[in-house]
Amino acid sequence: MTQELAGKTAFVAGGSSGINLGIAKRFAAAGAKVAIISRSPEKIEAAAKEVSAFGPCIGMAADVRDYAAIEAALKRTHDELGPIDIVLSGAAGNFVAPALGMSANGFKTVVDIDLIGTFNVLRASFEFLNRPGASLISITAGQAERASMFQAHVCAAKAGINMLTKCLALEWGPAGVRVNAISPGPIADTEGMARLAPTPEAEARVNSRNPMRRYGQKDEIADMAIFLSSEKAAYVNGAIIPVDGGSGAGDASGNALGNYAAVY
Ligand code: HXC
Ligand code: NAP
Repeated sequence: MTQELAGKTAFVAGGSSGINLGIAKRFAAAGAKVAIISRSPEKIEAAAKEVSAFGPCIGMAADVRDYAAIEAALKRTHDELGPIDIVLSGAAGNFVAPALGMSANGFKTVVDIDLIGTFNVLRASFEFLNRPGASLISITAGQAERASMFQAHVCAAKAGINMLTKCLALEWGPAGVRVNAISPGPIADTEGMARLAPTPEAEARVNSRNPMRRYGQKDEIADMAIFLSSEKAAYVNGAIIPVDGGSGAGDASGNALGNYAAVY
């Protein structure tokens, strides 16, 4: 495998499972030294072992809602692995519930993890970055742009992440720090899709609305994260990049495929 990230240091928030763990493994395979954090000490220890099969990795338990804990994890990463070249902010929470079935604390919990957590990770990282040249990446979702039933908390939080990404890109670009976001479509074998499409019927419905007619793979998100972290993306800043098979090109109902879908 090509060592596109040889010598770089990467910090992955929410790196103990799913898409973010997939990215952490590919970062390591591409030559980066990797630090991963998430809440559960058991999950993070097991994940760090998995990443270590590809390259140097340290795992730390830290909650993105706790600014001091995140700052300490970033400092340790900087001190042990070197100035940080890549920060991936992907910690998130979700549950399916109508707004009227959501307490104020339920709504706040998801906004705190996704949006405030992303601010905490990106803001706290700044002084530990290898500047100029650092690449910061948030993980957002199509719900940021398309309203979705029973996802008011996620839609609001991810919409905030998109705007935060663009604001930081404006402010930090002059310091040589690029800030972008990846917006994955439905990705196979993830907690996110297990919660949103828990049955084969629901999965088939999701796929029928995707022009590629399938879920994406974690590696397909990692490919974009590696590109954004490489010199090839040196002029990409403030972008929200969908990696979704085109599902976001239409509207939320999949009507962009219209009646023609039946032809294929
Ligand atoms: C209504 C719920 C609820 C549910 C929790 N709450 N689950 N309300 N319906 N199903 C409420 C609780 O009652 C509580 O409010 C509040 O939310 C906080 O719950 P806690 O369990 O105390 O929170 P916490 O331990 O911090 O856990 C956070 C969590 C949990 C988000 C609730 O599900 C979690 O840890 N998730 C992490 C993993 C995850 O969600 N992965 C998927 C990411 S995918 P009260 O009022 O009772 O105190 C993703 C989707 C993107 O982000 C789009 C994909 C296409
Ligand atoms: P996942 O496996 O549940 O990943 C979430 C990660 O965040 C876990 O490592 C979790 O570990 C960590 N985390 C949760 N709350 C945290 C907190 N407060 N502080 C620190 N870490 C925390 O979910 P996934 O489906 O792969 O999703 C990963 C990312 O992709 C999310 O940002 C999600 O919104 C986005 N996304 C997913 C899809 C999809 O199809 N799955 C589509 C679009 C966007 P702990 O439990 O140990 O904390």
